[in-house]
Amino acid sequence: MIYKSCKYIQHGIAFRHDAVSICNKLCGTKRYEKFNINYEGDFYKKYIDVRNEAIENCKKGILPHDGCNYCPYVEEKDWDDECKFKEIEITHWVHCNCGCCYCAMLPVTKGKMVKFKQNSPYVKLLPVIKRMLKDGMIADDAFFSVTGGELTVLKEFPDIMKLLLKQKNASYGFCLQTNGIKYEKLLSEALERDRRTSIVISIDAGTREMFKKMKRVDKFNDVINNIKHYLRNTKTNKDRVVAKYIIVPNVNDSKEEIDKWIALCKDIGIKTMQPSIEFCSQVVSPGIFRQKQGELYKYMKSQIIENGFEIITYDFLEEIIKNESFDITIKRDKSAV
Ligand SMILES: C[S@@+](CC[C@H](N)C(=O)[O-])C[C@H]1O[C@@H](n2cnc3c(N)ncnc32)[C@H](O)[C@@H]1O
Ligand code: SF4
Ligand code: SF4
Repeated sequence: MIYKSCKYIQHGIAFRHDAVSICNKLCGTKRYEKFNINYEGDFYKKYIDVRNEAIENCKKGILPHDGCNYCPYVEEKDWDDECKFKEIEITHWVHCNCGCCYCAMLPVTKGKMVKFKQNSPYVKLLPVIKRMLKDGMIADDAFFSVTGGELTVLKEFPDIMKLLLKQKNASYGFCLQTNGIKYEKLLSEALERDRRTSIVISIDAGTREMFKKMKRVDKFNDVINNIKHYLRNTKTNKDRVVAKYIIVPNVNDSKEEIDKWIALCKDIGIKTMQPSIEFCSQVVSPGIFRQKQGELYKYMKSQIIENGFEIITYDFLEEIIKNESFDITIKRDKSAV
């Protein structure tokens, strides 16, 4: 049956720090339905009921949230009835070993570095993933986005990753977002397994001084050494180690700083870059799109391309830049979606 939906409504599940939701897209407006439930036992079976209801509504032309009507991920097509999970987001903790001035988690962490305390209770996802695998509910070609918090400090990360990497007859893709402060060899292993996998590291700076301002820890040299290590440890997927730069107003928002970052990436052998701006507008610049951010974003893109790097961008960020507004719903006609 042909109807408007998205791959997350059809096949997704996002384990967030405060809820389970259909998607975790930060498109400038709230675009997901939270589904508060304990991550226990076979809870995901209840989640499937919620998802089925959402799919039935899509068939009637009603998307889960008003913001979905403007989302770049919506497609109108003949969706299959496959109910296995294919888009899985793992971001159920906020703990981190640094304190970026722009972190999307700031409203939760209040700017503090949140550390796991010994024996502290925290949501454990490993038993849930085990159960989903046992029930055959994870598609063989599923894609996992792992964000957080910082994955290299998540206690159960190595066990989750080892379990996923040892599944026979399956090849999972991963988007592994890390600050690069701590080297994790399982990321290199995942990178070699599936061409879809990428390791994304937000350096946000080309010098140690700027790095300290952005990340609020003095770990620039560790990050650079670890990136080199990831690049050395992959034979064929060097272009899947991605360096990112988030433009933050009044901190790293100048052409000079962007040029320094590009020179650094060239020097260490990075092949692929991701330009970005601070877009969780509640964190740094409440709701206000600054023209300078847009101009610098375009400058950064042009420099990345001119210098022969590959580039990846977020679809919704391109919309924000084009419309010069974080609220991408206001300049688009609903009927045009
Ligand atoms: C919340 S972080 C967690 C993963 C990991 N600790 C890291 O920093 O890469 C997930 C991704 O969101 C990006 N991010 C965090 N806060 C942001 C913000 N306010 N605006 C835009 N991107 C942000 C980070 O650069 C990172 O690529
Ligand atoms: S349409 Fe967009 S916002 Fe809505 S569930 Fe899908 S990805 Fe999320
Ligand atoms: S490294 Fe990631 S989780 Fe940690 S403070 Fe920075 S953006 Fe937030």
